[in-house]
Amino acid sequence: MLANTLKKLSPNPKARRKAYWHSVKAICKKYNFEYYKPNLIWINDADFKAAQKEWPREFGMSNDRRFFLFNTAKRLHNIPGDSADVGVRFGSSSFFINKGLNDSSRTHHLFDSFEGLSEPTAEDHDKKSKVTAWKKGDICVEEAVTRKNLSMFNNCEFHKGWVPDRFPDVANKKFVFVHIDVDLYQPTIDSLKFFYDRVSPGGVIICDDYGFSSCPGAKQAMEEFFADKNETLFYIPTGQAMVIKQ
Ligand SMILES: C[S@@+](CC[C@H](N)C(=O)[O-])C[C@H]1O[C@@H](n2cnc3c(N)ncnc32)[C@H](O)[C@@H]1O
Repeated sequence: MLANTLKKLSPNPKARRKAYWHSVKAICKKYNFEYYKPNLIWINDADFKAAQKEWPREFGMSNDRRFFLFNTAKRLHNIPGDSADVGVRFGSSSFFINKGLNDSSRTHHLFDSFEGLSEPTAEDHDKKSKVTAWKKGDICVEEAVTRKNLSMFNNCEFHKGWVPDRFPDVANKKFVFVHIDVDLYQPTIDSLKFFYDRVSPGGVIICDDYGFSSCPGAKQAMEEFFADKNETLFYIPTGQAMVIKQ
């Protein structure tokens, strides 16, 4: 509708683009949305664009979070270890981490119930309203769907089950990249307790849920766990949080 109105008002494409931009800015301001400026380099990063073509799915993780995983993984070539994704769903985070590492000699380990979320606990309730956004079984995807989505890789190992039941499968491994995206307190803290000592120095732990108001338990788990550690918890404006292992 907006496009048609602007087309009538301005036949000049350059002027129209400027008018679109001002309209989008005004809408964002009115509704308290954020927008990205079109001159941001990462949006047109050639490697990222090529990866996006291979993963055209719109649902799930936003592009800025995908880019952060992809680009961080790309820069960890010199650090030894496998990668792990705890909370996989359709597989977007796994796709962009594995693409960024681009090293099939490392195994990418995927942990998920493939039965959705576990039962939320008191930590997952909003501190004021005492209500949680989640219930057991939410955001469930079948393992077969995710396996098919990630069939372009030959280095994926699936560990279906409730966190932390399948962690012993990788007890003897070292990790360069651990991604935690399970939305809730208990599986987030269980993941941190297991993986922290297994991350190589210079490797990273990224929590997807840290800055989302729907996931207060994940934030609490990160803050509690890192309170007595030497590492800094970096809070990224995408909502993610990252720790670089010392
Ligand atoms: C937000 S989704 C993950 C999104 C995914 N990282 C992406 O890139 O789209 C959360 C996932 O965590 C899984 N999950 C939540 N709690 C779990 C638990 N306690 N044990 C195992 N998996 C769990 C759910 O099945 C779901 O697939």
